[in-house]
Amino acid sequence: MLFTSVLRALPAALLFSGTQATPLDFESRQISIDAFITTQTTASINGVLANIGGGSKAPGVPAGIVVASPSRTNPDYWYTWTRDAALTYKALIERLVHGDTTLRQKVDDYVSSQAKLQGVTNPSGGPTTGGLGEPKFNVDMTQFTGAWGRPQRDGPPLRATALAIYANWLADNGNKTYAVNTVWPVIANDLAYAVQYWNQTGFDLWEEVNGSSFFTLAATHRALAEGAALATKLGQTCTGCATAAPQVLCFMQSFWTGSYIDSNINVNDGRTGKDANSLISSIHTFDPSAKCTDATFQPCSSRALANHKAVTDSFRSVYAINKGVAQGKAIAVGRYSEDVYYNGNPWYLTTLAAAEQLYSALYQWDKVGSITVDSVSLAFFQDLVPSVTAGTYAKGSATYTSITSAVKTYADGYIAIIQKYAPSNGGLAEQFDKSTGSPLSAVDLTWSYAAFLTATERRAGIVSPSWGENFNNLPPTSCTGTPACNAKITFNVRATTTFGDNIFVTGQLTQLGNWDPNSAKALSASQYTSSDPLWTTSIDLPASTVFEYKYIRKTSAGAVVWESDPNRRYTTSAGCGSSATVNDTWR
Ligand SMILES: *[C@@H]1O[C@H](CO)[C@@H](O)[C@H](O)[C@H]1NC(C)=O
Ligand SMILES: *[C@@H]1O[C@H](CO)[C@@H](O)[C@H](O)[C@H]1NC(C)=O
Ligand SMILES: *[C@@H]1O[C@H](CO)[C@@H](O)[C@H](O)[C@H]1NC(C)=O
Ligand SMILES: *[C@@H]1O[C@H](CO)[C@@H](O)[C@H](O)[C@H]1NC(C)=O
Repeated sequence: MLFTSVLRALPAALLFSGTQATPLDFESRQISIDAFITTQTTASINGVLANIGGGSKAPGVPAGIVVASPSRTNPDYWYTWTRDAALTYKALIERLVHGDTTLRQKVDDYVSSQAKLQGVTNPSGGPTTGGLGEPKFNVDMTQFTGAWGRPQRDGPPLRATALAIYANWLADNGNKTYAVNTVWPVIANDLAYAVQYWNQTGFDLWEEVNGSSFFTLAATHRALAEGAALATKLGQTCTGCATAAPQVLCFMQSFWTGSYIDSNINVNDGRTGKDANSLISSIHTFDPSAKCTDATFQPCSSRALANHKAVTDSFRSVYAINKGVAQGKAIAVGRYSEDVYYNGNPWYLTTLAAAEQLYSALYQWDKVGSITVDSVSLAFFQDLVPSVTAGTYAKGSATYTSITSAVKTYADGYIAIIQKYAPSNGGLAEQFDKSTGSPLSAVDLTWSYAAFLTATERRAGIVSPSWGENFNNLPPTSCTGTPACNAKITFNVRATTTFGDNIFVTGQLTQLGNWDPNSAKALSASQYTSSDPLWTTSIDLPASTVFEYKYIRKTSAGAVVWESDPNRRYTTSAGCGSSATVNDTWR
C-alpha cells in the first residue's frame, strides 16, 4: 500500500486555537526554542487562515482562494499564485489528515475554487491548451493579463500533490465517492498538464529563470508517481503518468553536478545554481517510508546533504548578519547568492527549508536505523562532528548519537535565526534585511507561515504520508524525454506515370527531407491502376504543425521533375497518434 498514513496526533500546541499570539518582549526572546515554537505556531496558523478567502486579511476574496500576501503596494502581492496556494494547502491538508477537522471546509473550498480556476482562459492558454501553467490570477479569480514570467510548470503538480493527500485520506476513510467525483477531476487535469509539458522549459519558482528548474521537475516526479497510484486506487486512469514519471526522474539526475544540485539547467543564467530551490525540492519530496535515496534526493541522502552544505555555505559571506558565524552553525538563508531582488536578502521560508531538510533527515535515519557517511556527504558531517570518517553508524552507536545530536542542534539553530529576526507579534514577511535583520518586502507572506508550520511539524516527528518513493526511485538507464507527439499523415497523389518513374514527397520538415530530393520520401504504386493512378505513403509528422510540401517525380534516367508552384500547405492535427489522409492530384 503506497499511502501509509502516519497517524500521530498533533500536540495540542500545534492545533489551531483562536487565541492571539502572545507578544514577545525583548527579554523574552531568551525563551527556549520550544516556547518560541508554541507561540509562533499559533501566529502562523492564524497568519495562513487570515490570508484565505473569508479570512481577516482577505476581505472579499472567494472561499478557498489563497492570497500570497495582503500587501497591495511595494510589492503588490494581492494575487493568488497556484504554487503558493498549493504549498499552503498541502500544509493545511496534512494537518487535516493528522486530525485537525476544523480545516475540512477550507479544504473543500480549495477543491471547488481550483476546479473553477482551471477553467479560466488566460495568457498561458485555455483549460486544455497550457492555461494551467499560468502562475497567478487576480484574487477574484479572473485572469491576470499583465507581463509576467510565464508559464510556470510547478503549479499543476504541486496542486495535484496537495489534493492527492486529501483524496487518499477520503478514500481511506469511507468517502471514495467525493474523492472520485469531486477531487480526482481536478487532480487529473493537473496531471495531464504535467504529462504533456514536463519536458519543456518554463519559469522557475522565483519567476526569473526560463529553463529547466529542479524544483519543477522534482514536484512533477512526485505528482506523477502518486497520481498513477491514486488513479489505480480510485479506479480511474492517469494517461501517461506511469510512463512519464521514470523519465522525469531520469532527467532529474542531470541536475547533479557531483557536489551539489544545479537548480536551473537548459538556460544560461550566469549563476552557480546553488539555490534554495533545491532545499525546497528535498523537503517537498521527502517520503517518510524512503531510505536515504540519492536518485530522489531524499533529505538524508548523501547528495541532498552535500547540497545543503553547498547552498547554505553560499550565503555565509554575502549577508552582514551572517558574519562571524562559524562553519557548521546556522545562518540566515536566502534564495541564491546572486539575488538582487530588494538588493538580495535572506527569506524566512528558505531559512526554514534548511531546518526542515535536517529534521526530515533525522526522521529518516531513525527509521532506517543507521547513518552512512560517504565521500559525497563527508564534508557536511565534518562541519558538525569534525572527527567523523566515512562509514555506516548504527543507531545506538556513539557516532550515530553524536551525529544526530549535532544535526538536531544545527537544525534548531535555523529556527533560532527565525526567532531572532521575527517581530514580536509573530508576523512573518517575505524577507529580512541582510544587514539589520528587520522584516522586508511583503508583510504576512502566506508561504512564510506555511513554511514555519511544516518545518516545526517535522521537528516534532509529524510527517506527510508516503507518496510511494520506494516504488519510484529507479531512474531508467537512458533518458528519452517525452515521446514525440505525432500525427500519421497518409499522402495520396494521383499521378499518371510511365514505367520506371517513381513519385516522392518532400517539404519543409525533417521527416520530409527538408526539400532535398535525395532525402524525399518514396510513395508506393502498389494500388496503382490505369483508372486510379494512386501513389501513396504514410508518414509520422509532428502534431499541430503547419508545413509546405510538393511531390516530385524521379525518372528512370535519374531526372527530378518538380510539381508546379505554388507549394502545397498542410496543418497536422493536435492529437498525438491521430491519423489523416490528404488526397492530391499531380500538377
Ligand atoms: C464526503 O466528503 C465531503 C467533503 O468533505 C462531505 O461533504 C461529505 O459529507 C462526505 N460524505 C460522507 C459520506 O462522509
Ligand atoms: C522561454 O524559453 C523558450 C526556449 O528556451 C522560448 O521559446 C520562450 O520564448 C521563452 N519564453 C519567454 C517568455 O522568454
Ligand atoms: C527533455 O528530456 C531530455 C531527456 O531527459 C533532456 O535531455 C532534455 O534536456 C529535456 N528538455 C527539457 C526542455 O526539459
Ligand atoms: C481520400 O480518398 C480516399 C479514397 O481514396 C477516401 O476514402 C478519403 O475519404 C479521402 N479523404 C479526403 C480527406 O478527401
